[in-house]
This record gives sequence, structure tokens and C-alpha cells, in this order.
Amino acid sequence: MCGIVGYIGSRVAQPLLIEGLKRLEYRGYDSAGVAVLEGDHLRIARAVGRVAEVEEKLDQLGGFAGTLGIAHTRWATHGGVTEANCHPHRDDKSGIALVHNGIIENYAALRTYLEEKGHVFSSETDTEVLAMLIGELYEGDLEKAVKAALREVTGAYAIAVLCEHDPNTLVVARKGSPLMVGVGSGEYVVASDASAIIAHTSQAFPLDDYNVVRITREGFRTSTINDVPVSPKMMQLEMDLEQIELGGFSHFMQKEIYEQPKVLRTTLRGRLDHNEGRVILGGLASFAKELIKARRFILTAQGTALHAAMIGEYLLEDLAKISAEVEYGSEFRYRNPIIEENTVVVAVSQSGETADTLCALREAKDRGAMALGVVNVVGSSIARETDAGVYLRVGPEVGVASTKAFTGQVTVLTMLALYMARRRFMSPEVCARCLRQLDEIPAKVEQTLESDYRVRKVTERYVERDNWLFLGRGYNYPTALEGALKLKEISYIHAEGMPAAEMKHGPIALIDDGMPVVFIANKGRQYDKVMSNIAEVRSRGGHVIAVATEGDNDIKSVAEEVLYIPECEEYLSPILAVVPLQLMAYHAAVLRGHDVDKPRNLAKSVTVE
Ligand code: F6R
Repeated sequence: MCGIVGYIGSRVAQPLLIEGLKRLEYRGYDSAGVAVLEGDHLRIARAVGRVAEVEEKLDQLGGFAGTLGIAHTRWATHGGVTEANCHPHRDDKSGIALVHNGIIENYAALRTYLEEKGHVFSSETDTEVLAMLIGELYEGDLEKAVKAALREVTGAYAIAVLCEHDPNTLVVARKGSPLMVGVGSGEYVVASDASAIIAHTSQAFPLDDYNVVRITREGFRTSTINDVPVSPKMMQLEMDLEQIELGGFSHFMQKEIYEQPKVLRTTLRGRLDHNEGRVILGGLASFAKELIKARRFILTAQGTALHAAMIGEYLLEDLAKISAEVEYGSEFRYRNPIIEENTVVVAVSQSGETADTLCALREAKDRGAMALGVVNVVGSSIARETDAGVYLRVGPEVGVASTKAFTGQVTVLTMLALYMARRRFMSPEVCARCLRQLDEIPAKVEQTLESDYRVRKVTERYVERDNWLFLGRGYNYPTALEGALKLKEISYIHAEGMPAAEMKHGPIALIDDGMPVVFIANKGRQYDKVMSNIAEVRSRGGHVIAVATEGDNDIKSVAEEVLYIPECEEYLSPILAVVPLQLMAYHAAVLRGHDVDKPRNLAKSVTVE
């Protein structure tokens, strides 16, 4: 959701900024821009469209030579996708340029105040208001002006600011939107996430809310907007460049679908103690005593992560026999939730920055809940604000459509359920059996991927259809929701997911001749019921695509198309069943000619509410 990059050092900034923007483009890609200080002269290039359009502009302008600059790739919030609304924005008085990720909520009042002071705006954005405010308050000290302005602001921001009158200073600040500072030797790279930093240094620190960092070529200083000094928490970035490159695949989504066997092995590594029949989750160690007292789990998330959380609810109730429920973070926060004693809130998030989930987590903590994180990005806001947690370890997810994070989340939630079960009542023997089953999953995902060619063929047959249904029951009801979400977000096909039984309570009216209806119909407790639901669809002319268990020949007589997954325990089946659905969405998007990794209107990491 908007990516920002900044550089100060001795190298020419422009190529670093452009390379950084390309790495961050998945966060927003409707327009982009770069500002560089050449001596005390501010140069700006902005363009609607992808980063490549800005590169072209820079070429036309002969390139920028300065060694201090900021850049931005945008996902529009305030104001349409026009060049005037592109970042960087500048003020009209003090030579300020600024890039921003987030939303300034009181921008209207600030704009009126600034207009009364004679400032003239050239965009519709909240960001320009902030640039003008900093310019208005500037009296020769950029850091001071930024702090004074931020004290007037409500909303969320990650900003990078420079000023024509101070060619040795870059000021960055954060509240609510992620930002980190990479520390190289005599140079600094600032970015929304590590992917734009890792090519230059592996030493970095994330900013906390209300932190401001003043960076010069000689060093940096961190303090709060109220001038209280802060010691940054330096960390070693563990990402390597290979992880964020395509490596022979056509798209990141495809690469990430194929990475699943490997990354799930990493998710499990060192966490399954087969001898003792127990799960070892280091991130929960300091919290083990509290967890034992847990009486209720609330899992909170959005989107794909919410679907994983729904499976987590089934797992906790089924395996650990503990009360669990799932809530959209966005709803939980505003509905006066009741948190009783010994309630654990689990925030499930790939990015660890999703504003809706983060706000729900804070609300739950304020109401006395214990807070756990199931997060991928190390050091992210949710990871830092939870009492304990388990990292997914699936590596950076660049494709906007979440795939490997989903299977990673379900895998971690399975381990969490077994961890709780073992502490509550499960014998080491039973747990050891579950661990063996779980350990076999990465190899079974590998096997499932072998059906890719067949999934593509099936997709080709139905790709022109504009309405699809995805149906499942029990553990695979959330899988059906996930299949529908994947299809709609990247192929723009209208798809609904629902419990298979719910169809006959209304949505069955949608079924017409040839409508593709995807059933997750693996062998399990509800198999016969699903077969009845398939018959209901068939008798109304729907075309059934079934995801079924290897060896199930009966299903061929009721479904037009069958996509097989290896046999597995029912509680593990979503991790396999989702794979053909991910592939189907991927192929549908490619066949329809869409940009798979940058679907329209979307952005990864939604850091606004
Ligand atoms: C869909 C997708 C989104 C995210 C959601 C939560 O493919 O990626 O639905 O799952 O925005 O994001 P995280 O997991 O980062 O909290």
C-alpha cells in the first residue's frame, strides 16, 4: 500500500531509488515518482503508471545526479490517479519534498488553515497538505519542522522528507505505516520494507510509531515527535536477493505457489519433536504458563489470512477442544467485544502490518486479552506488539495474491492446535502420530503440484465464464472462500465461496447451464453430504469441478472435471486442496491476459483502515 524509498550517501541516488521502487512496486503501482537534491536544487520526475514510466521521464530529463533522494510508488487513496497527485509532493515556500504512505485524517482542516495562510495547492492529496505544513513550520531546521507538523496530524504515515536548504539531511518518520532504515557504510537506505534495502545492507532497524530519524551522511539520530531520544533496535535482515527475484518463473505468484513444499518444510523445521510427541514453538516459550490457562481463542485477520484463521478455529476446537472463534479485525475493533479472563487473541497476518488486524489486536490487548501473532514478516508491527508468537518462515511474499503465506498460516495454526492439545489432554503417542501426518504434508503438496498441467486444461475450458461458485464443508469451507477470493482478485471473474449446504438456501438460484461450480470433495466426515450437494448442482445444469482424494473413482461419475489431491487426514486437507485452486486462479488470470502480480485496484499490505 504505497512504497517509499529514500537514499543518502555518496552514490548517485537515482538508480538505487528506481531499483528500490521496482522491489516495492507490489505495494502499489498506479503511479510513481522520484525527487533528488542536486546541490541545493530539487529535481522531481513523476508519472502515472508503473515505475518504468518514471524511468522514461528521467531519461528524457537526462537523469538526476544527486546523492540524496526520495521516491514513491502509489496506491491512490486521496485523489485520482493523475500526475498532479503523484508523490513526491512539495511545498510552495521552503523547498520541501515529501513522500508518504498512509492517510492524514485531518487533512481537510489543515488544508483550510494553510489556504488561509496563502498556500496554493496543486493536488487533491492529503500528502501535499503535510508537505505544505512542514514548509509553513520550517525555520531552518528540517527535523524540527517535521516534528512540529506531525504533532498536528492525525492518521497514519510513513514519510521521507528532504529540503533544498539542507542538502545533507533526510528526515523520516512513522506512525501506523511501516518504515525501516538500512544502515550501510557512510550511506543509508530507507524503505517501506526490507526488499528495497537488502541489496545494499543487511543491517537495519524498524521505526516505532511516533519515531523520527534525522539522517545525515555522517550518522543518524532517532527520537520521538516530542523530542525524547530513542535507541533503535538494530536487526540483521535475513532475506536474500534470490528470494525476491523471479528465478525462471513467469510471475511471483507462480513462483510462490511452487515454493510451498520447500517453505513449509522450513515452517516445520525444528518444531516437531517426534520422540517426545510434542510441538516446540520457541516463540511461545515465555508464554507457556499463561497459555495453559487459556479458555478461549479469538483469531483475527483479513482476507486470505482470515480464511487461514477460520481453519485455525476448526483446528483449535477439533484437535485442542478449546473454544475458538474468528473475527474480521475491522469488525472486531468497532463492536465493543467482550473479552473474558484467559482469552487469547491471535492476529494472523502475512505482512504483520495490516491496519485492520493491528487495530483489532490493540483493542483486544486494551481489554485484557493475551496477544499472540502468527506473522510472516519478522519485526513487523504485529510481531512487535504481541506478547508471543510464531513466525511463518515462508520467506518474502511478493505476489499480491497471497499463496504460500496461506499454507504457512494453516501449518502454523495446526502446530498451535497440537501444542495446545498436548498441553491439555493429548497423549504423546497420539500427538506423535499427528506430527508424522503433518510432516508428510510438504511432500504431498509437491505431489499436488504435479497436476498443474491438468489444472490449466480444466481452467481453459471454463475461463470465459464470468460467474463461478466455490463450495466446501467443514475444514474446506474456508478453502472454498479462499479459492473464490483468489479467482476474483487476479482474474476479475465474479466468484462466490460458501458452505456447500448453504447453496440450497438461496444461491442455488444462480446456477444456470454450464456455470462452473468448484467443490472441495475430499474424503472425510462430510463426503456423502458433499456428494448430495454436487447432485443438486448437476441437476440444475451446473458444471462441477471437483477437488477429490486420489483413488476416488466414484466422483468421476458426478463431476465433469476431477482434480486429485493425495490422501491425507481431514484436518490437513485444506493445505492440499487449496493448491489446485491457487493454480486455477493463476491460469485464469494468465489466460485472460491480466498482470498476475499487480492486479487492478489492489496492493499488498493494506496499512490503512
Ligand atoms: C489476498 C490477500 C489479502 C491479504 C489481506 C491480509 O490474496 O493477500 O486478502 O491476505 O490483505 O494481509 P496480511 O496477511 O498481510 O495481514
